[in-house]
Amino acid sequence: MRTVCYLRRRVGNSRHGCAPPAAPAQTGTVIVTIAGPSALRGTVRVPGDKSISHRALMMAALAPGTSRVTGLSDGDDVRRTLAAISALGAEVTDLDGVVEVTGGSLAEPVMTLDHGNSGTGIRLMTGIAAGLPFRTRLDGDDSVRSRPMERIATPLRLMGARVEGRDGGYAPLVVDGGGLRGIEYTTPVASAQIKSAILLAGLSAEGMTTVHEPAVSRRHTEEMLAARGAPVVVEGTTTSVTPSTLSPLDTTVAADPSQAAFWLATAAALPGSELTVPGVYLGPARRGFLDVLLRMGADLVIEQVSADSYDVTARGSALEATDVEPGEVPGLVDEIPVLAVAAALAEGTTRFRGAGELRVKETDRLATVTAMLRALGVTVVEHPDGLDVTGGRLGGGTVDSFGDHRIAMAAAMAAVAAREPVTVLRFDAVATSYPGFLDDLGSCAAGVVLDPGHDA
Ligand code: S3P
Repeated sequence: MRTVCYLRRRVGNSRHGCAPPAAPAQTGTVIVTIAGPSALRGTVRVPGDKSISHRALMMAALAPGTSRVTGLSDGDDVRRTLAAISALGAEVTDLDGVVEVTGGSLAEPVMTLDHGNSGTGIRLMTGIAAGLPFRTRLDGDDSVRSRPMERIATPLRLMGARVEGRDGGYAPLVVDGGGLRGIEYTTPVASAQIKSAILLAGLSAEGMTTVHEPAVSRRHTEEMLAARGAPVVVEGTTTSVTPSTLSPLDTTVAADPSQAAFWLATAAALPGSELTVPGVYLGPARRGFLDVLLRMGADLVIEQVSADSYDVTARGSALEATDVEPGEVPGLVDEIPVLAVAAALAEGTTRFRGAGELRVKETDRLATVTAMLRALGVTVVEHPDGLDVTGGRLGGGTVDSFGDHRIAMAAAMAAVAAREPVTVLRFDAVATSYPGFLDDLGSCAAGVVLDPGHDA
């Protein structure tokens, strides 16, 4: 068993600390070939949770005083948020991996806030901008420019902000904020990004702001606002906030479950594997992928190490297909690409349903997961809101990440399991959330050879 991995250009391996990006993430140049099959063994320390990292920085920028954030995600998305709060006037210092933010007196930014590939970054920051009494311009890369922004613009306009987008509902966005009033709003889909944009605007609105969701989405915003002194009330799928000045708070960001999922789902499906991811955040609406893996028969050991973080170990075994129901999707929305890889290695046909939101992620992930798995010989039926993935033998081939970080990483995991070499185009998309991904793969896939010396 030997896995060989040729990296034609180094993606980057900085693990700690976040400086504003020197240049936008490039996608389209890096090609990686991985030859399996292999097993995954050892311990992988994944980056800090991306959702928590964005929010820790944004809330630190709003809070008068100094907050320290340890263990931030080192991906490009979070670097963009760091640059954005800096452009808004927050003082940011990186002290050897601990980022110190002094906030509370934000001012009109001279430049457009460029959120790169980050839907979370631009949507949450638009909610903040709606509450600030000046003009803010926000933009992103081609992927962000193709993602729907009316879903946040509509409620923010109802609160009194002026939000203008291109062609009615796309970035770049221009926000004239301030003078908001609270609203009661029912979101059309369960989305933490929509909910969070409204709640962040609600911090400076007159009266109470209430958001009803069709299902529970991840709850970082409400948890983190409450921890910073905001009056937040959560009842089932309804969340309310009243105006508040946030208190500064020191935060240690737990490991990202969405990144842990790549390793754990693959290790669970590959006999001979035994892999641990320490300190994984498993709070509300973030552990659904583990429930799915357990239903598939995965051998998992989950040990609590603090209030919301857990050491998780997966041992490889033969998995069986399952049905992933619509109600589960908001709790594992980012993990479906790698769960589809696990399904491709399992016995039987796994059905994902109610996953139409995947069509408006960094790529149309129902289409890009289907293309990736079919290129490796897997039988996949694509539905308007889901996938049927039939398990079997993974072959080799060339797959495209389409510039989507989670497709690049899912493809790498499929490659580890595949019988023949797999080439992943635009692999550098991983820098969006996990710049050290390939180094970690080298450390836990037996026989991996990293060759950073080849130019594209
Ligand atoms: C996120 C929410 C999710 C997820 C995204 C991060 C967040 O999107 O897909 O990667 O940090 O709020 P939804 O808005 O669909 O919940």
